[in-house]
Amino acid sequence: MADQKSYHMTPEEFRRHGRAVVDWIAGYYERIESFPVLSQVEPGAIRAGLPPAAPAQGEPFGAILDDVEKLILPGITHWQSPNFFAFYPANSSAPGVLGELLSAGLGVQGMLWATSPAATELETHVLDWLVPMLGLPEKFLSTSAGGGVIQDTASSASLCALLAARQRATGLASNRRGGDGRLTVYTSSQAHSSIAKAVRIAGLGEENLRLIPVDDRFAMRPSALAAELQRDREAGKLPCFVCATVGTTSSGALDPLPEIAALCRQSNVWLHVDAAMSGTAALCPEFRYIHHGVEHADSYCFNPHKWMFTSFDCDCFYVADRRALIDALSILPEYLRNRATESGAVIDYRDWQIPLGRRFRALKLWFVIRHYGLEGLQHHVRRHVELAQQFAAWVREDPRFELAAPAPLNLVCFRHRAGDEFNQRLLDRLNQSGALYLTHTRLNDRFTLRLAVGQASTELRHVERAWKRIQEEAALLSLL
Ligand SMILES: Cc1ncc(COP(=O)(O)O)c(C=O)c1O
Repeated sequence: MADQKSYHMTPEEFRRHGRAVVDWIAGYYERIESFPVLSQVEPGAIRAGLPPAAPAQGEPFGAILDDVEKLILPGITHWQSPNFFAFYPANSSAPGVLGELLSAGLGVQGMLWATSPAATELETHVLDWLVPMLGLPEKFLSTSAGGGVIQDTASSASLCALLAARQRATGLASNRRGGDGRLTVYTSSQAHSSIAKAVRIAGLGEENLRLIPVDDRFAMRPSALAAELQRDREAGKLPCFVCATVGTTSSGALDPLPEIAALCRQSNVWLHVDAAMSGTAALCPEFRYIHHGVEHADSYCFNPHKWMFTSFDCDCFYVADRRALIDALSILPEYLRNRATESGAVIDYRDWQIPLGRRFRALKLWFVIRHYGLEGLQHHVRRHVELAQQFAAWVREDPRFELAAPAPLNLVCFRHRAGDEFNQRLLDRLNQSGALYLTHTRLNDRFTLRLAVGQASTELRHVERAWKRIQEEAALLSLL
């Protein structure tokens, strides 16, 4: 019996509404500067505007889109605003958005090669492209013993790296028998909190995480790492994983990879490099020095969803030896068995990540790389660094302010000399103004403002306006 009733959109309606959504997004980008960057709503305000129960009958699409404007936009913090300088960028771009849309339209699950060969092969190919683009070692190519995979986030990449390291350090026994409390992990006191979280999730225990002190540039001190490794070995521990950071979240510090790598090699410890934000800078030959030493790493990750114009989520994760990763994560139930997997001739990325299912993320990354080309990506990354350097120069010239850390790339840490409370109030006033959005950190236990340049449409005038506003608010505050 034919089912004549359908609640689905017809292809014609989909075309019409789809165009309306793309128009809406294009219009949003055109007027984005008219919104306060940081959403100004009170907790609960957005829910209060929504009906208590889901609609029993479907509603016209136009009404839904109208409600995005009316009910949702006030609760949006405008990450794509050129005046967004907070945290780290999560920059997007038109080709990235369109790639994401196409991926949703295809709706494929790329867990196995067989479930969509193009999803796997495009991913492998684009990740291979990025190896020479970023000056990464050839051992990360899929044609070597290693290879790359797209993860949702750097947090997942670091967790996968740790699980592979755990397996390797225990001669593949840890999956079978669980932990015995001996494995130890090392990262700097400035490393991202995702490393501590990975240690928890992997069941190693936070007591076995060593936060290595940093130098006056906030970079890991190799001598302190050497001492901790030695102490642990003498105490019968089994050092298994070091995470070095290229561009720490707080201040953009660059851990000294060559020295750290030498210690890891001596102790046969897995070296993971977290370059979540700053890795993108290596697209430009003049910034490629940040990857010096990465040739000795066992794994590496960076986030195109931070600074490479690829909509969230997209982290590129590389390993030097894919066997170690697959040994840690592969598990093959009967219902996933298929001829291609058994032939051994294909990659099944489900074995390279935590979940089984996976989105076709390579599409948006491919769109971005093809749209901009290496030249276009370099142009925008260079411009962001130039703008941040210009901002740092203005801070240096103003005797009321000081730089709080070196600013090698696109992040500037600075503060007013009037102390913590003043800087906190300055930050609050700036963010409440809606004109820009900055966040803070603590460096040497002092409240520090951070300005990160990386949104796709940020230009000199935005950074100039931000600095003028900071100066004006500081002057006003000084009078209060
Ligand atoms: C150095 C570093 N590592 C990891 C992360 C976490 O990134 P994700 O959200 O992709 O897990 C960040 C986020 O800012 C970061 O700066």
